[in-house]
Amino acid sequence: MQLIEGKKIAEQIKGEIAAEVQSIIAAGGRAPHLAGVLVGHDGGSESYMTSKVKTCEQCGFKSSLLRFDESITQDELIAAIQGLNNDKGVDGFIVQLPLPRHIDEQAVIEAIDYRKDVDGFHPINVGRMAIGLPCFKPATPSGIMMLLERYKIETRGKHCVVLGRSNIVGKPIATMLMQKGNPGNCTVTVCHSATPNIKELCRQADIIIAALGHPGFVTADMVKEGAVIIDVGTTRVEDPTRERGWRLSGDVDFDNVAPHCSYITPVPGGVGPMTIVSLMHNTLLAATGRAYTD
Ligand code: GUN
Repeated sequence: MQLIEGKKIAEQIKGEIAAEVQSIIAAGGRAPHLAGVLVGHDGGSESYMTSKVKTCEQCGFKSSLLRFDESITQDELIAAIQGLNNDKGVDGFIVQLPLPRHIDEQAVIEAIDYRKDVDGFHPINVGRMAIGLPCFKPATPSGIMMLLERYKIETRGKHCVVLGRSNIVGKPIATMLMQKGNPGNCTVTVCHSATPNIKELCRQADIIIAALGHPGFVTADMVKEGAVIIDVGTTRVEDPTRERGWRLSGDVDFDNVAPHCSYITPVPGGVGPMTIVSLMHNTLLAATGRAYTD
């Protein structure tokens, strides 16, 4: 069994991005600029945003954070987004989700200029990705693809079972893995809450992508010998032994599953660090005008 060290790969890629930023600046260009919009004070969103700002610094990017109170109206938020769309000094931006209940998330996503949508959530980017055109691809599935690529994991002709059908992970990773390409060329099965025979399907999988937010869902009896396991789960579970009172739990029963795998990602330190690095990669593509040509 080989551990997929997302944290280590993320550090390598950050170094590569920082080197490219240095050469852009040495050639008289300016640093890529990522802006983030944060509404309210959700604990998870606050910590994601803090990590994103810190990673921008490590990559040599400029970053700015626009914070709004929970009580902001949808129109006010959309006006702020239009400001970012029109700001030539901002290469890309994200609106941290989830948003308060009185705001229509989809309307907000659609207000973002798709050419600055480094989260890859705008329908134009989603559609372009589905038909294999250059676009911004969402960060978590892109991070998984980078891990498969860097570990040279064979995906061609493999049966990949995706657990979860979210717009952020399940649907886009299924799309990416079925595309022609390397990584890619998989036969993909997507399982969700209405799938009756999940265990059986998992037992047939060469690769399992677990992205359902259910701690310890994938157990040893669901895993074929030699399978590749990618754990996207990041649920906060109570842990009185930790000073902060919680720890992150993945969707895989790691201790019992790992001995049966060829490769497995840990939680934390697997997919998580790659997500932020993918966002940095998208921002670099936005700043250099490469998103729609690569
Ligand atoms: N909330 C959880 N994941 C994400 C993400 O990748 N982007 C944004 N904008 N919000 C999120």
